[in-house]
Amino acid sequence: MAAMHNPAGLSPVVAGAWRLAEWGWTPQQRLAWIEANLDLGVTSFDHADIYGGYSVEALFGEALALRPGLRGRMQIVSKCGIGLVTPARPRHRVKHYGTSAAHLRSAVDASLRALRCDHLDLLLIHRPDALMDFDELADTFEALRREGRVRQFGVSNFAPHQLAPLQRRIALATHQIELSPLHLDPLHDGTLDQCLDLGLRPMIWSPLAGGRLFTGNDERALRVRQTLEAMAAELGVAVITLVIAWVLRHPSQPLPILGSRRIEVAGQAMAALDLRLDAQAWWRIWTAAAGQEVA
Ligand SMILES: NC(=O)c1ccc[n+]([C@@H]2O[C@H](COP(=O)([O-])OP(=O)(O)OC[C@H]3O[C@@H](n4cnc5c(N)ncnc54)[C@H](OP(=O)(O)O)[C@@H]3O)[C@@H](O)[C@H]2O)c1
Repeated sequence: MAAMHNPAGLSPVVAGAWRLAEWGWTPQQRLAWIEANLDLGVTSFDHADIYGGYSVEALFGEALALRPGLRGRMQIVSKCGIGLVTPARPRHRVKHYGTSAAHLRSAVDASLRALRCDHLDLLLIHRPDALMDFDELADTFEALRREGRVRQFGVSNFAPHQLAPLQRRIALATHQIELSPLHLDPLHDGTLDQCLDLGLRPMIWSPLAGGRLFTGNDERALRVRQTLEAMAAELGVAVITLVIAWVLRHPSQPLPILGSRRIEVAGQAMAALDLRLDAQAWWRIWTAAAGQEVA
C-alpha cells in the first residue's frame, strides 16, 4: 500500500465555508467561528471562489483582517474552475467550467484579494472540465507554485480516469469527494481505491449528507438514522461522532469537511478521532445505507 501523505498539512477535520454567507453573521461572529475551530484543532478552512455567489472568501477575509496573526495558524483551501453567471462576473454569459491558464490565474488573483492573503495552502479544480488540457493545467500549477501563490494542488469530483493523467504530470495533494452513509458511490466506483493506490488522502464533502442524515424523511434516510441512533446509544457517543468515525474508518485516511455553523458539531467530529469502529460496526452502517446486506 502507498504511504498516505498529507502534504498541505491539513487538520484531521476541516471546516467548510460553503454556507458562511447564509449565516448572516457580523465580522466578529465570523472571527469567533474561526477562532473556536482553531482552538479545537480544526485549523484548515475549505473555500471555493463561487461560494455565496463569489462572496464567501471576502466575508472570511474581512473577519481574518480583524486578527491577521491567525493566518499563520491555519491552512486555507480554495477551489476554482466553475464560472457562474452573476453580476459579480459580468463576462460570464453561460454557466461553464474553466481550467485554462487564464481562468486559473484570474481566479487565484481574485481569491487571494478576497481572502486578503498572499498565498493559498491548497488549490483544487472544483469539477472536471471537458476542455481540460492536462499539460496546460500541470504547467499552470507549477507556475503558481514557483510564484509562491499556491503551495499544493488537487482536484474535486473527478473520475479516476480524469485524475490519473493529471497525477502523472504533477503530484496532487488530495481528491475532494462526497462520501456519507447517504452517498456510498466512491466506495465502489474506484474513486477511493485510486486514492489509496496513489497515497492521496481524500477530503470528504458533505459527510453528514448536508444535514439530510438528521432531517431526511425518505425511507432510506429514516432507516439510516434509526441505525445510527441505535449504534450511537450503544457506544455512548453522539451520532455525529459515529458518522465521522465511519468516514474515518476507510484506509485512505479521509479528511472530513464539516459544514455546520455550530461549534459543538466540530467538537463531536473531533471526538471521532478517538473512536475506531470495528469492521462489522462499519458494515452495519453500510448495510442500513445500502438497504441490503452484502452478497
Ligand atoms: N467539492 C465540492 O464539490 C463540494 C460540494 C459541497 C460542499 N463542499 C465542501 O464541504 C463542506 C461541507 O459540506 P456540507 O455543508 O454539505 O457538510 P455537512 O457537514 O454534511 O452538512 C452541514 C449541514 O448539516 C446541518 N446539520 C448538522 N447537524 C445537524 C443536525 N443535527 N440536524 C440538522 N441539521 C444538521 C448543518 O446545519 P447547522 O449549521 O445548523 O449545524 C449544515 O447545514 C462545505 O462547506 C464545502 O466546503 C465541497
